[in-house]
Amino acid sequence: MKRKPNVAVVGATGVVGTTFLKVLEERNFPFENLYLMASSRSAGKEVKFKGKTYIVEELTEHSFDKPIDIALFSAGGGTSAKFAPIAAAHGVTVVDNSSQWRMEKDVPLVVPEVNPQDISWNKGIIANPNCSTIQAMVALKPLQDKYGIKRVVYSTYQAVSGSGMKGIHDLKNGLAGDDSHLQAYAHPIAGNCLPHIDVFLDNGYTKEEMKMINETHKILGDDDIKVTATTVRVPVFDSHSESINVELEKPFALSDIVELFRNSPGIVVQDDVEHNVYPLARDAAGTDEVYIGRIRRDFSVDNGINIWVVADNIRKGAATNAVQIAEQLLESLPD
Ligand code: A2P
Repeated sequence: MKRKPNVAVVGATGVVGTTFLKVLEERNFPFENLYLMASSRSAGKEVKFKGKTYIVEELTEHSFDKPIDIALFSAGGGTSAKFAPIAAAHGVTVVDNSSQWRMEKDVPLVVPEVNPQDISWNKGIIANPNCSTIQAMVALKPLQDKYGIKRVVYSTYQAVSGSGMKGIHDLKNGLAGDDSHLQAYAHPIAGNCLPHIDVFLDNGYTKEEMKMINETHKILGDDDIKVTATTVRVPVFDSHSESINVELEKPFALSDIVELFRNSPGIVVQDDVEHNVYPLARDAAGTDEVYIGRIRRDFSVDNGINIWVVADNIRKGAATNAVQIAEQLLESLPD
């Protein structure tokens, strides 16, 4: 590392933003100056970080006039659409957690365990993938490398923290018996499963489902993989759970796949059904690993497997993944 960067966190008061700070602190991310930015609603708010008090500033067109090297954005697509290019034009490298830039040709979409090499061709904006996609990629990459992937079927069970403070509000109030002022969802989430994440598109899929499909192609670098998805919001506060059905190109021994997962970066295998051991959302919460269990052959096709994949959607699915990208950027900081 050449020198310590000046770092900005945009959306510092949100669910992902506050976790950016937690993860930066835990991983002892080096920095010279730290700037916390949010909307005018939060301007002046005090935030403690590493024993020091920082004042949240309003994000404006002039926020990047000061020297900033790396900006971690999680303030919604509209904010990223407007401000990430302004930051990039000032020489800032933006790691953006919104969906705004993910499918742009000249924006790398990166999961550090999967395609770290793509970071090098960024032109000022690097996109952090969708939370559900990130954990799926960590699981699928070793399978792709060893066996090739023909087809993937995702069924997700996603936590309300993925909808930010509003989602947490709806579940908390719903559990307390009050569904009268829903902020995030079209229906009560307490005691429910909502097959509706993000908006519905003309093709009948939700935008979340299409994100998983399109981002899988981009990150694995193979548009020929057939992918479909059903994404569901469930009354869980933290961690997304996913059933992933994969049809591989080549035959396999199940024990080799378990071994492959055990030896792959970022993965913890939890698969001992005799003792009721399999990944659980509550256990994954607060951690950075991707947990895989229920590893079993899909007897209905040639070379098929089913896996159950769980990860903390705010940490590995958002903040930790972005900070891992930022850690790699440290190596290429100009003097
Ligand atoms: P604020 O707290 O001032 O509204 P979440 O989705 O978890 O609720 O968090 C959204 C984050 O994005 C918050 O930090 C929020 O700030 C920030 N944000 C939302 N809209 C804007 C905006 N127009 N400009 C800057 N930050 C924004």
